[in-house]
Amino acid sequence: MKKIFINGYGSIGSRITAFLKDDPEISIIGVGKYSPDEKVNLAISRGLKVFAPERKLNEFKDFEIAGSIESALDDCDLVVDAAPGGHGFLNKKNLYEPKSVMAIYQGGESVVGDKAVSDLLFNSRANYELSLGKRHVMQGSCNVTGMGRILEPLREKFGEKLLRFDVTLVRRWADIEQTDKKLKDTIEMTESPHHGDDVKTYFGKDSPLFVRAIKVPTRQMHLHIMDIRFKDKSPKPSEIHNIFVNEFGVATLWTAKGTKDVRDFAETMGFNFTDTNMIHIHANMTASIGDTVQLMYSDDQTGIVIPENHMLLQSMLFGKSYQEAFTHTESIFHMQEKKQKLEEHFAKKD
Ligand SMILES: NC(=O)c1ccc[n+]([C@@H]2O[C@H](COP(=O)([O-])OP(=O)(O)OC[C@H]3O[C@@H](n4cnc5c(N)ncnc54)[C@H](OP(=O)(O)O)[C@@H]3O)[C@@H](O)[C@H]2O)c1
Repeated sequence: MKKIFINGYGSIGSRITAFLKDDPEISIIGVGKYSPDEKVNLAISRGLKVFAPERKLNEFKDFEIAGSIESALDDCDLVVDAAPGGHGFLNKKNLYEPKSVMAIYQGGESVVGDKAVSDLLFNSRANYELSLGKRHVMQGSCNVTGMGRILEPLREKFGEKLLRFDVTLVRRWADIEQTDKKLKDTIEMTESPHHGDDVKTYFGKDSPLFVRAIKVPTRQMHLHIMDIRFKDKSPKPSEIHNIFVNEFGVATLWTAKGTKDVRDFAETMGFNFTDTNMIHIHANMTASIGDTVQLMYSDDQTGIVIPENHMLLQSMLFGKSYQEAFTHTESIFHMQEKKQKLEEHFAKKD
């Protein structure tokens, strides 16, 4: 049994913790909180031990804190860092390295430059094997993970026939539970988005991938609008859809009018956190025109990276093969069943 600490209990940390509680190979030491707010008691009510930074213990005196984060790391096999972007790097330098603890970092960090947390950005579909034996690895962000689920199978199928990929990321403004974060009535443009460079760390630095990003006032997922150009005539939409029939974490839907339809269905079906944990190709929007395939898929922003974290920690902690990790992750996340339910509900109507 390996001992894991989750540092940060926000959108990502709370989800990872909930799923790890179902994993018989893992024991959760507790979670790290930095603000003395109602979420401390929420975590305790869920049977978790809550730890706070040593320097802030006094601020948490009205709560039943189990101890300092520093002390929790003294007997810990791996930390899942779920801190706001940039703090993971500081935690690595100030906590994890001095205490010689392995760590997984989230998509708000970087694998290049002075503040790199690792030399590996993980995507289970693209580079699972490279994470074996590593002590510090970054999990790609939701958009970066989603793109990998589309690009890798396309490359495997069409290889040299592909000319370039142009992607517009339509990003959600906030997460569902971030109720304190107001949606701003604007379409915000993102200068130099990191997503393309992040994908290129596993897809190849010279790959012909061109990414633009905007943010829109919704909490209901991201939408990627992708144009795939071929050297000659492009394949038919059905040939594209067929590639994803057996892909992990990709559902092909025909009748969802918008991203909220997908979220609402997840809620109706009782999926944890109303997450689908995957991307959804909106097959009714696929078109093949001359040398180009137009594709749209939505990306469950908070859910998609959770099974990825689970795959990664099995590699780092147990040195499992891809297949072993995949089978165990499937037994906890039931991705195949979720995919099937989504595809049945949003099936093509003849
Ligand atoms: N949200 C998404 O859709 C999404 C998807 C993929 C990847 N990510 C990435 O996941 C990471 C976490 O994002 P999030 O959306 O979960 O953020 P979040 O909801 O704002 O939660 C951040 C959590 O980190 C805690 N925290 C504050 N300072 C910390 C520190 N120094 N060290 C450790 N934890 C600290 C906060 O504690 P208090 O609340 O107690 O202050 C809070 O619980 C980011 O790198 C983000 O880019 C997010």
